[in-house]
Amino acid sequence: MRIESGGGTEPGGAAPAPLLPPADPLAGQRVLVLISGSIAAVKLPLVVSALAARGAEVRCALTPSAERLVSPVALASLARRPCALDDDQWSHQAARPLHIELAEWADLVLLAPLSATTLGRWVHGLADGLVASTLLACEAPVLVAPAMNTAMWEAVPVRRNWQALQTFERVVPVAPAHGLLACDRRGEGRMAEPERLLLALESLALHGWRRDWAGRRLLVSTGPTREFLDPARCLTNPSTGRMGVLLAQAALQRGATVDVVHGPLTVDPVLLEGLRRHPVVTAAEMERQLVDLQPAADAIVMAAAVADHRRVEARLDKLPKQDLQPALSGGWEPVPDLLAGLVARRPAGQRILGFAAHSGDVLPQARAKFARKGCDLLFANPIDQPAAGFGSPFNQGWLLGPGERIEPIAPAPKLAVAHLLLDALAGLPLRPPAAAPPHRPAADGMHPAAADP
Ligand code: CTP
Repeated sequence: MRIESGGGTEPGGAAPAPLLPPADPLAGQRVLVLISGSIAAVKLPLVVSALAARGAEVRCALTPSAERLVSPVALASLARRPCALDDDQWSHQAARPLHIELAEWADLVLLAPLSATTLGRWVHGLADGLVASTLLACEAPVLVAPAMNTAMWEAVPVRRNWQALQTFERVVPVAPAHGLLACDRRGEGRMAEPERLLLALESLALHGWRRDWAGRRLLVSTGPTREFLDPARCLTNPSTGRMGVLLAQAALQRGATVDVVHGPLTVDPVLLEGLRRHPVVTAAEMERQLVDLQPAADAIVMAAAVADHRRVEARLDKLPKQDLQPALSGGWEPVPDLLAGLVARRPAGQRILGFAAHSGDVLPQARAKFARKGCDLLFANPIDQPAAGFGSPFNQGWLLGPGERIEPIAPAPKLAVAHLLLDALAGLPLRPPAAAPPHRPAADGMHPAAADP
């Protein structure tokens, strides 16, 4: 979606049909799950089960090593379709070779876990075995999640092969995380968790494999802030931070380097993997981080729900209950508008997207707020509707942009809304991207520029 192009609503004009993905972006997708020989293969039944439950069509194929680690019978049952093994590749009863049939069937491919051997085979163009042949025959985007012992992952030939893989079109890497490995070592090499793989697949279904944010830096604020009355009580709000975190993950997968300044979050910690995190608690802490990070950002998304008032003087001792009433009604001051500060300080070419949370009639309030805040785009969302707002998996609202354009956004999963907002930001004239090679691998594989000093 490009907010500058046709399709916006002129003031007083009829609302166009919003350009929206289906309710669950994975529903109806044909997902081919290729599993190679790493112990992380035991987690794949969870992914397959979740995909099938979300309405995806799922087929699995295993290398002989993977067959020893995870049950093809379990995978076939969870996928509701036969599981393909090396022995099935050639059959006098099949009209076409199985690797061609699988490769042409798939809309999306998940290669997880990726072992050192399968990586080497693919990079060197070897077609020995069903999984290796399918990868070479496949023209669909492939989400790739390696898993191996840290020393193996850091071995020169594996690094070299992994780097070579980043230059392949249609490949979306989800590099392993740091953690406890089955070999009892703690280090890099742990496969991305199933929830993260599902999120990355969902992004792939929504946006495709192209890294249109490569070489760009995005700064996102999200979550609530807290202002303390005393050490035991605070003023805050029900924001979970999910919308901003998903927006950050979407941008990461599209190639951006993403800094996330966040208050106390209530999202699955797995969804924070791969992001540069800057945790804060109060608005003053958030402001300090934003001031530090703003100069390097090409674009900023201010999704944080900043608490509105703070104590004029902080109390270090807990107030007795009987003294609460006067303390609640006096001694507070407004928190400065952080978004206004960002707009006032912004360097030339930096784009800023603000959020607006409203109940009741959203649009008139949003128009006034957009005029007041001075940001390039404002996403106004209702907080009193079932499919939007704090804690909801969905969002909806209006995107206000230059030239009095207003784009309605119908209820959709928050990740779908995140991609629409990124499309709109990318549709504005941004600073030219830094000359970062789009596929150069980083330590975490998802955002090449993050490895730069
Ligand atoms: N915001 C901010 N600093 C504040 C308050 C809000 O930067 N002290 C930002 C939010 O991150 C959001 C936008 O301003 O991007 C609008 O926030 P919202 O809570 O909708 O509005 P407020 O400015 O707080 O105004 P009101 O509560 O009166 O609607």
